[in-house]
Amino acid sequence: MAASVAHQSWTTAVGWTWRPTTTNTRPSPLCLPLPIFSDSVNKRKNRALRVSCDYSCFQIKDVSYRPPGTKTNLLDGVSFSLREKSFGLIFGRSGSGKTTLLQLIAGFNKPMSGSIHVQRYGDDGCPNWSPELLDEKRVGIVFQFPERYFVAENILDEVIFGWPRQRGGNHLKQLLALRLQKAITSVGLTGISLDQDPQSLSGGYKRRLALAIQLVQAPDLLLLDEPLAGLDWKARADVVKLLRDLKKELTLLVVSHDLKELAPLVDESWRMEMGGILKGEPLPV
Ligand SMILES: Nc1ncnc2c1ncn2[C@@H]1O[C@H](COP(=O)(O)OP(=O)(O)OP(=O)(O)O)[C@@H](O)[C@H]1O
Ligand SMILES: [Mg+2]
Repeated sequence: MAASVAHQSWTTAVGWTWRPTTTNTRPSPLCLPLPIFSDSVNKRKNRALRVSCDYSCFQIKDVSYRPPGTKTNLLDGVSFSLREKSFGLIFGRSGSGKTTLLQLIAGFNKPMSGSIHVQRYGDDGCPNWSPELLDEKRVGIVFQFPERYFVAENILDEVIFGWPRQRGGNHLKQLLALRLQKAITSVGLTGISLDQDPQSLSGGYKRRLALAIQLVQAPDLLLLDEPLAGLDWKARADVVKLLRDLKKELTLLVVSHDLKELAPLVDESWRMEMGGILKGEPLPV
């Protein structure tokens, strides 16, 4: 049961692009360009000069959650925004709701209220598209102690567990196979035989494997729950270095108690208070 949940986020995640279709364009009235030039002059000028600084933010707005059949909210009006290719860290006391929030963003549960969107901004910092619902297929999640959910007898089978088995899935499989090479390289597993039993890997290498499994899906947002927990000092340093490299490629939202080690990577941080209340706060280190 747990194993299928651990792999749930990457069954069909291929080919999604950030830019919304033209049907949902809605330029902000505050950001409309002034009509100084004629249309054709404008177009030529834009072609020659345009260096796009567009960027996206993941936006969580006023999200509340209470598990079915219970009376207490685990998350209470959580709002925050995280810019693409940045590193966000959520810290806070045990039982405050950090894991619950990650599971919601990954799409395992639905919020009772609030929204989770991607908002695109133009060069001028103004929203230039309507916000899009975050597609959970674009989100990867590495649970706390992911190695506990490994199910296969060798590394290759572990990575491809959950790949499409239906007819017509061959094209997708080929694409995933190409990505596998890149993922294995980027987590530093190249020297390891793919025939090896995942359970025979060291703690740090198991953690790398868990990351590779998610990276094969090329997520835009990677959620990590306590990525350093249970590792020795050397493996912790390796994982921190790996996360620093991954930040160049994708957006990372991390829940951790290991503030000191992760502090150099952090762009934004929030404290989760008991009762699932999130507040922006610099790291107390
Ligand atoms: N399905 C559920 N039904 C009822 N209560 C739940 C459910 N899932 C989690 N909880 C409770 O919600 C609270 C928040 O749990 P959560 O695992 O999100 O905390 P956390 O901040 O990640 O804690 P830790 O730092 O120990 O990992 C806890 O008190 C937990 O027991
Ligand atoms: Mg937790």
